[in-house]
Amino acid sequence: MTRNILVTSALPYANGSIHIGHLVEYIQTDIWVRFQKMRGHTCSYVCADDTHGTAIMLRAEKEGITPQQLIDKTHGEHYRDFQGFHIAFDNYYSTNSDENRELSQEIYRKLRAKGLIEIRSIEQLYDPDKQLFLADRFIKGECPKCHAQDQYGDACEACGTTYAPTDLIKPYSTVSGATPVKKTTEQYFFKLGECADFLKQWTRAGHLQHEAANKMAEWLDSGLQSWDISRNAPYFGFEIPDAPGKYFYVWLDAPIGYMASFKNLCAQTGLDFDSYWKEGASPELYHFIGKDILSFHALFWPAVLAFSGHRTPTKIFAHGFLTVGGQKMSKSRGTFITAESYLQQGLNPEWLRYYFAAKLNSTMEDIDLNLDDFVARVNSDLVGKYVNIASRAAGFISKRFDGELGMTDPAAADLEHEFSSASTTIAENYDAREYGKALREIMRLTDLANQYVDTNKPWELAKDSANNDHLHRVCTTALTLFRDLTLYLSPVLPRIAEQVEAFLNIPPLQWTGVFKPLPSGHRINAYQHLMTRVEPKQIDALLAANKESLAPTEHSPARHAEAQVHHAIPTDAKQTMPESPLIAIDDFSKIDLRIAKITNAEHVEGAEKLLKLTLDIGEEKPRTVFAGIKSAYDPSTLVGRLTVMVANLAPRKMKFGLSEGMVLAASGEGPGLFILSPDSGAQPGMRVK
Ligand code: 2FM
Ligand code: ZN
Repeated sequence: MTRNILVTSALPYANGSIHIGHLVEYIQTDIWVRFQKMRGHTCSYVCADDTHGTAIMLRAEKEGITPQQLIDKTHGEHYRDFQGFHIAFDNYYSTNSDENRELSQEIYRKLRAKGLIEIRSIEQLYDPDKQLFLADRFIKGECPKCHAQDQYGDACEACGTTYAPTDLIKPYSTVSGATPVKKTTEQYFFKLGECADFLKQWTRAGHLQHEAANKMAEWLDSGLQSWDISRNAPYFGFEIPDAPGKYFYVWLDAPIGYMASFKNLCAQTGLDFDSYWKEGASPELYHFIGKDILSFHALFWPAVLAFSGHRTPTKIFAHGFLTVGGQKMSKSRGTFITAESYLQQGLNPEWLRYYFAAKLNSTMEDIDLNLDDFVARVNSDLVGKYVNIASRAAGFISKRFDGELGMTDPAAADLEHEFSSASTTIAENYDAREYGKALREIMRLTDLANQYVDTNKPWELAKDSANNDHLHRVCTTALTLFRDLTLYLSPVLPRIAEQVEAFLNIPPLQWTGVFKPLPSGHRINAYQHLMTRVEPKQIDALLAANKESLAPTEHSPARHAEAQVHHAIPTDAKQTMPESPLIAIDDFSKIDLRIAKITNAEHVEGAEKLLKLTLDIGEEKPRTVFAGIKSAYDPSTLVGRLTVMVANLAPRKMKFGLSEGMVLAASGEGPGLFILSPDSGAQPGMRVK
């Protein structure tokens, strides 16, 4: 049965470059869409630039251009980068479009008519110099808990405490440096709390991954607040109807941008917009996203849709973050790799598509790009195994048989059958986003094809013309198997698949067309090498090209990587270390410092900075400490290490659990964070004096 499917990836912000962290998601989605299309389904893949908000307005101002000029420029760059990685959108649009304005206003009016919009006066921090209301991320100051300097307005990166920006000590605006003042303002709120019953049911109705549903249950259990969907002028976005000087918050119109991009596609193709979006619509709707924006897609978005008379998503597919070498992407290490630099350095985009696919599964676990493993895996699987089959068989067909295929080898009937019967498992794995499993199965078949060639040794057969028929059959069989492997790999390697279609002189591969041998007498074209090996020096050059020596606290636009784009505003804030006042020995001796053995270390879901450590300090019960050292350590490398902890720090309830102490780490002006270790011989529980 042919399915009608609409698929989206998250809309990238229009003020930053596409980097490999983004590419995980676009590659994941593109593979899935290509697979569905190969199965004969009607599948539309839409996306757009996410263009609104204060960050974009300020960035344009800084560059001396209008926001429209900025978003036009970025749109071109993003589109170029996506094409470079063979991301085949059916439409790549912009949220700053007429379709989006109309849809956003219409949806807002429907929510208002349902009584779901309320106007409330609230106090917000305001930059008196810039005459701008400040979002939390544009305010910095001293953490009210641990007194770390230059912490953002919503959470302390040093101790993990969350707070309101008005709680910061000596706050300043990162836009102008001015001290913010409190100002009362009327804002428009979407009464999300009134959608709670609907959401409790919806989030448990199979639309979310299991772990995502659990996460949302935590939010739902703690009670849903009304959601401020308005921002004050000056703001780059859409005006709220009947509310002069008020604009829709970027996160209201961004997901509506999915609809708007599709509407624009409908105008180009004749697809019927309403039949996809009206309440109860039967086409399937899937959103691929990073786990950092789950609440927007699993709570706000379905509520906005359902209560404005639209269908809700069939499923939300959230993936994890990308780390490089077990650490978050970093400009100083050169691992904050932009899509543009990767292509400019001459690296093959299909290498990365393959590597990410091999790592991807259907969970929200983070995935790691290990550059040594990348080189080894691509060279071994793709060049050493897959491409090798064609290069070993094609030459004989051209030279000895004038490019004509013969019959396949009857002795390989079982093998051909094994290849065709793997189709179901491979298809199921692609459909379930278990790409790693699909590729493992394809590589198992690739090994079998190579064993077939090794056993039959066409290069030996070619030595005696009496073996001509046998040689012809073996090479024809090898190329038939190669054709099947290409079909199975083509969602991941679409360019290679096109080259193979040209080489084998066959129409575009469809999943249904597999398993008939290529007809005897079919003429193929001369083989041209399909893929080169990755050279380690190319990786060195890539890292060098991306290396920047930046102050470690300057944040850059990076979704799914190290920071939200809201951190992207360059700041002149001084990164000064506070002068330490002198203390008496008595003060020092109040601190109970102990040698601690790290018996376990793990990532904390949803935490950008933290690792969860289990520490043995010789007490009966081990301590749990959340330490802000994720940027510097792969948790597995910490297990077994000795370090120093503050054992008598009052336990602190954090978002992720209770932290029962603190481990000591050094950091300076440059990058890097270094936990302290005692000399060998120290034992867990020893006092540090
Ligand atoms: O987090 C981000 O990068 C957002 N620009 C994603 C928006 S996705 C959708 F909701 F529009
Ligand atoms: Zn703090």
